[in-house]
Amino acid sequence: MITLPSSLLLVGYGKMGSALLEHWFNHGLTTGAVVVVEPHEETATALRKRHGLTVLSSPSETKGVPQVVVFAIKPQMMEEALPQYAKLGAAGTSSGALFVSIAAGRTIASLTRHLGADAAIVRAMPNIPVAIGHGMTVACASPTVGNTQRELAADLFTAAGAFTWVDSENLLDPVTAVSGSGPAYVFLLAECLARAGVAAGLDEDLAQQLACATVSGSGALLDKTRKTAAQLQRDIASPGGTTEAALEVLMAEPGMQKLLTEAVAAATARARQLSK
Ligand SMILES: NC(=O)c1ccc[n+]([C@@H]2O[C@H](COP(=O)([O-])OP(=O)(O)OC[C@H]3O[C@@H](n4cnc5c(N)ncnc54)[C@H](OP(=O)(O)O)[C@@H]3O)[C@@H](O)[C@H]2O)c1
Repeated sequence: MITLPSSLLLVGYGKMGSALLEHWFNHGLTTGAVVVVEPHEETATALRKRHGLTVLSSPSETKGVPQVVVFAIKPQMMEEALPQYAKLGAAGTSSGALFVSIAAGRTIASLTRHLGADAAIVRAMPNIPVAIGHGMTVACASPTVGNTQRELAADLFTAAGAFTWVDSENLLDPVTAVSGSGPAYVFLLAECLARAGVAAGLDEDLAQQLACATVSGSGALLDKTRKTAAQLQRDIASPGGTTEAALEVLMAEPGMQKLLTEAVAAATARARQLSK
């Protein structure tokens, strides 16, 4: 069962913030339990009208200490925004808020610098399928985060898909490269498959339809079955058949495995460069 916070302050109502909030509402979070900080007046007005939510234009208007503060703003906005929330951490006392950040590349150390050494901080890396409740989120917690707070943080993301913890924050760089950026690799596969269909004689619309349905149907099957991706692959590829002919091409040097390993290594290296 998913337990959501009794009070939550959401900082940033963009693509990720709005998607997460929608899932929290679907899992029973009440509008009275949420306050949103959104400086963009047009977005704030629409949000007030749509959900009847309390929307503040600045954190200085917050009253009391929420159980959880979620930062869903762009990484480059964090330095300016964070110091205004430090008071909600209440210097690590049990009444202080849990801070959850989804800002890419913003380390726990840098969040701590702005929010205070005793602040309870969770750094999470969700991915874009969070938008439809099929996300994959991986997170790391500062040592100041208590067990109840860990459970709360896990539930916030479980409401929008799968969730797992890593103990070492360094692992969030390869995590970013695999599941954070990963959807783009899968969309590229769909695009390439459609182009290959056109090259093989299909018209463009049909090729697009086949490629999209194949990628989404295969993803759904992988999600529903107990079989691994390797087992599913073997199920389709009968010896001497059409699938085997294609797989031999895909796995010949340099091959899909080598390309993906290099792609993930490049993304990991870039994530390390951008981390601060
Ligand atoms: N999109 C992804 O796939 C993805 C995946 C993993 C992690 N993330 C992380 O998620 C975070 C949000 O990304 P996003 O794609 O949702 O960005 P976004 O759509 O640009 O949303 C950010 C929102 O925050 C608002 N904002 C800016 N400054 C603010 C402040 N000081 N206080 C409160 N709100 C403020 C922005 O308003 P204005 O538009 O008026 O500036 C905008 O509505 C980023 O840090 C990103 O690294 C994103």
